[in-house]
Amino acid sequence: MAGIIATRYRAAVDVFGWFKKRPAVDREITLRPRDCHCHAIPGVDDGARDLDMSLAMLRLLQAAGAETIVCTSHMYPGKYDNTPDGLARAFDGLQTAAAAAGIGVRLELGAEHFLDDGLADRIRRGEFIAFGPERYVLFEAHTREHAPRSLLEVVRTLTDRGFTPLLAHVERYHWLRGDDGDELCEDLRAVGTKFQVNRTVGKTNVPMVGPRGAFLSMLLARGWVDEVGSDLHRPTPEGRPFA
Ligand SMILES: [Fe+2]
Repeated sequence: MAGIIATRYRAAVDVFGWFKKRPAVDREITLRPRDCHCHAIPGVDDGARDLDMSLAMLRLLQAAGAETIVCTSHMYPGKYDNTPDGLARAFDGLQTAAAAAGIGVRLELGAEHFLDDGLADRIRRGEFIAFGPERYVLFEAHTREHAPRSLLEVVRTLTDRGFTPLLAHVERYHWLRGDDGDELCEDLRAVGTKFQVNRTVGKTNVPMVGPRGAFLSMLLARGWVDEVGSDLHRPTPEGRPFA
């Protein structure tokens, strides 16, 4: 009898040890107290259409645990021609309305800058918005096969000025996958680029399947998920613009 108990005890310890030793790759990516990527400012991009929608989005994120929400509207020349001054004015209006509505989250202004051939020059001219103690500058790029040619130039232009490049929704980019992608990830990390991953309010990243899942697992295993953002565009758990 004692032998059976001892065997079962050892089995339990082994199972516990296995759980403790499980690699990070199976862990879920969850939203964090600071949502560093969302489109809650009304009427400036494909995010909130009006103030009611903005407030509903802030409430949704607050209910999901957000304490700080960084409003990162698109700055995308030719598509969403937003400027730092224009976004700052719109942000002030949202902040006032959120306070009047009793929504107790801290709001901060950022932007989602589109990486095109002109972004490095816009950074040199000061046409960008940084946020947080990290002095993050969130930027996105196209998802086509090859990496944007000015990628490393943009990163260096930011780091030379004491800012931290934060690459938005890294799981989307085909050019960061595969052997060439691995090498580029290493290069980006080596020069100070941080990675932001998307996590919708209502849908888990687990199970991580397919090429995107494998990429996310690799990021987790290497400790390269620096920030998580909802990328919320609508007050729905999926949060996408077409909803
Ligand atoms: Fe976004």
